[in-house]
Amino acid sequence: MKTSRRGFMGAAAIAATAAGTGLRAQPKESGRVDGPFVLTTWDFGPGANETAWPVLAGGGSALDAVEHSINHVELLPDEYWVGYGGVPNEVGETTLDATILWGPTHDWGGVGCLKRVKRAISVARKVMEETQHTLIVGDDATRFAVRMGFEETSLTNLRSQAAWEKWAAKGVKTDAFDPEPMDADRLAGHDTVGSIAVDAHGNLCVGCSTNGREFKIPGRVGDSPVPGAGAYGDQFVGGAVATGNGDVMMRFLPTYHTVELMRQGMPPQLAAEAALKRITDRGYKFSGGIAAIGIDGRYGGAQVGWDDGGFSFSVRNREGNRRVWVSPEPVSQPG
Ligand code: GLY
Repeated sequence: MKTSRRGFMGAAAIAATAAGTGLRAQPKESGRVDGPFVLTTWDFGPGANETAWPVLAGGGSALDAVEHSINHVELLPDEYWVGYGGVPNEVGETTLDATILWGPTHDWGGVGCLKRVKRAISVARKVMEETQHTLIVGDDATRFAVRMGFEETSLTNLRSQAAWEKWAAKGVKTDAFDPEPMDADRLAGHDTVGSIAVDAHGNLCVGCSTNGREFKIPGRVGDSPVPGAGAYGDQFVGGAVATGNGDVMMRFLPTYHTVELMRQGMPPQLAAEAALKRITDRGYKFSGGIAAIGIDGRYGGAQVGWDDGGFSFSVRNREGNRRVWVSPEPVSQPG
């Protein structure tokens, strides 16, 4: 499919739009890469991108690239926040949320609260490719995965078991019953893997996967499998992926917001900032980040709540892997 390369609006228009959001008036971007490319969030981004890159370099599809990238993280044995072996719920079980979009058809597939199957993004792809549905959840998602040929296996390992036993020994209630985070977000961490790729044919794919939130109430589904919340994309604009407190963020569809601002010509960084500002303007104190990239290769990100600049993403194209730390003053460097 031929993609349209949208022009960006002029500086005056950007200044007017930025002024309307209360953001600084001058556009600021983290950079731009030529396609094909793949962008992936967090510390596992460089490794995930390297796994996906041969697909793109060989002329393969962005869909395969994103699945490779996210599978890489889902299957890392020491990764606590994505895939098996991490983030137990209130009763000690690890469950997974994931979604994937294929740009040319705007077809989506997702799973929520998937149990006992490791490669959630691949199950999400099956939902997209094999059914008319967009989201399948819980034990029924497990049954669907088995029907599609996936192995059913425990998602608990020694690490997640130990984390749950330590927490359960305290005898406290899950913090999901605490008041909404208006004074402070006490959640320990959220490291959702989100990947966005554009292949040599100009086709976009966006996906994300997570095991959610520690000691969550069983059955909880976060932002990750919800289109426009954890991830969003438009074949003619680009994509955005989110990480952070999904219980808060999904109420604002921040990746949809980001992509729609990009559609109007706003650079990705400003668009991501505006989407997060929509949430903080309503009084929420939370940790959250958004990384975005246009089909023209302009990328940027924004974050709130990680004042140490801990949120990062990486962009891989034929020139290598570039790591971008998203802080109040974003810094990018080869890495
Ligand atoms: N952003 C991951 C989650 O809250 O589930």
